[in-house]
Amino acid sequence: MKIAILGGGQVGQALWTTIHSEKETILNILGEPLEIKRVLVRDLNKKRKIPKEYLTTDPNDILLDPEISLIVEVMGGEEPAHSYIKKALEEKKFVVTANKEVIALYGDELYKIARKKGVDIAFEASVGGGIPLIKTIKEAMAVDKVKEIWAIVNGTTNYILTKMEEEYKGFSEVLREAQILGYAEPDPSKDILGLDTRYKLAILSSFAYHTTIKPPDIYTEGIDKISLRDILYARELGYKIKLLAISKEENGEIEVRVHPTMIPLSSPLSSVNGVYNAILLRAEKRGDVLLYGEGAGPAPTAMALLSDILEVGHTILYSIPRYYTFAYLYPPKLKEWESIYTRYYLRLWVKDQPGVLAQIAKILGENHISISSVIQKETSEKEEKAEIVILTHKTYEKCIKKAIEEIKRLPILEEWGSLIRIEV
Ligand code: NAP
Ligand code: HSE
Repeated sequence: MKIAILGGGQVGQALWTTIHSEKETILNILGEPLEIKRVLVRDLNKKRKIPKEYLTTDPNDILLDPEISLIVEVMGGEEPAHSYIKKALEEKKFVVTANKEVIALYGDELYKIARKKGVDIAFEASVGGGIPLIKTIKEAMAVDKVKEIWAIVNGTTNYILTKMEEEYKGFSEVLREAQILGYAEPDPSKDILGLDTRYKLAILSSFAYHTTIKPPDIYTEGIDKISLRDILYARELGYKIKLLAISKEENGEIEVRVHPTMIPLSSPLSSVNGVYNAILLRAEKRGDVLLYGEGAGPAPTAMALLSDILEVGHTILYSIPRYYTFAYLYPPKLKEWESIYTRYYLRLWVKDQPGVLAQIAKILGENHISISSVIQKETSEKEEKAEIVILTHKTYEKCIKKAIEEIKRLPILEEWGSLIRIEV
């Protein structure tokens, strides 16, 4: 069977190596050899593990080649990846992709085309790196009702937060490490700003709730404003800060959000460190299902791609149809962001003078927010300002938002620090 790869970067090269090193196993599973005919790149002269004679810069060498029945897309980004995938499906080619951006934005459209043309699109590698997650949520959960998803699905940001906490390293230094290890997106701001996590949550939630959740439906904050101070305060209070993807379905209403979250050390997600990802699925009948593994990195991702290639390859060679989607069936009813109900951590610098805490407590009280604890560290008289950390009981997002606006107008405020949501 002849296939082609769009993209010969970190993942494309790992896939090339894996397919060659797993030749025997692939032959046993497929019953015939798997041959990579062409690899699309931008620059023919870059040093890479793929011999030059296989490289092309012309997508039509692949998209219009009748010998190629399966295309693996690992270019990344929205365009031209989306157009190439669409063209491939229209040409009746099967597609395997690691591109969460394209699936999150155009999954419904691409599924329709695939169905019409009698082919399929598989994307196990798009969420959770090497973790067999899409198969679980798509097939094993198809007959159960997923009620909640709590997930760490970005390896780069989890690696950064872990290294900052464990080694007190600076943000940019750790990001550079994540890039060298091949974890980060071609544009790493997609990791840092939470966009990669948002794409992944859109895909997971669409399948979990059989609906169409698009990235703009998801409230998103990245880790760009998280400082080492917050990480250390969290530790002192018995929490860890993780970039969480959270979604819940209750009474037909769907809540979807991505933001840095303080989670207690007793939560299984708090011990997910480095490049590891974990996804906790809360289902009606199965109860809790926790999936854990390397969430990024060329080698685990290549494995997820290869498992899709083998499954799709079976369909091509033996006409064994794959499961069709259980997403995109019903329109979603989304919960309003301001009615989110959770706990909060607030950090702020104020003038070190009498009555300051009382002014802040008054605003919180007037907005129906109850304080669960307060920390104020002793500062030298010279500093004339004090850092206060407040943890609240559960309240509504609209209440905390209003309270913060009022606190920011207080003359005793020296500097706003941060707001982090707390979940258990
Ligand atoms: P990468 O190292 O930047 O590789 C991208 C490859 O695509 C490069 O070979 C590049 O060509 C080629 N390319 C990009 N735009 C092109 C265009 N317009 N025409 C032709 N070729 C083009 O990225 P990566 O880390 O391998 O990631 C690829 C995909 O896998 C992304 O969707 C990413 O989200 C996904 N993914 C990555 C990981 C991971 O751990 N890295 C894990 C899961 C999923 P040149 O080499 O010539 O520049
Ligand atoms: N940049 C992504 C991450 C790659 O760090 O999780 C895996 O999807």
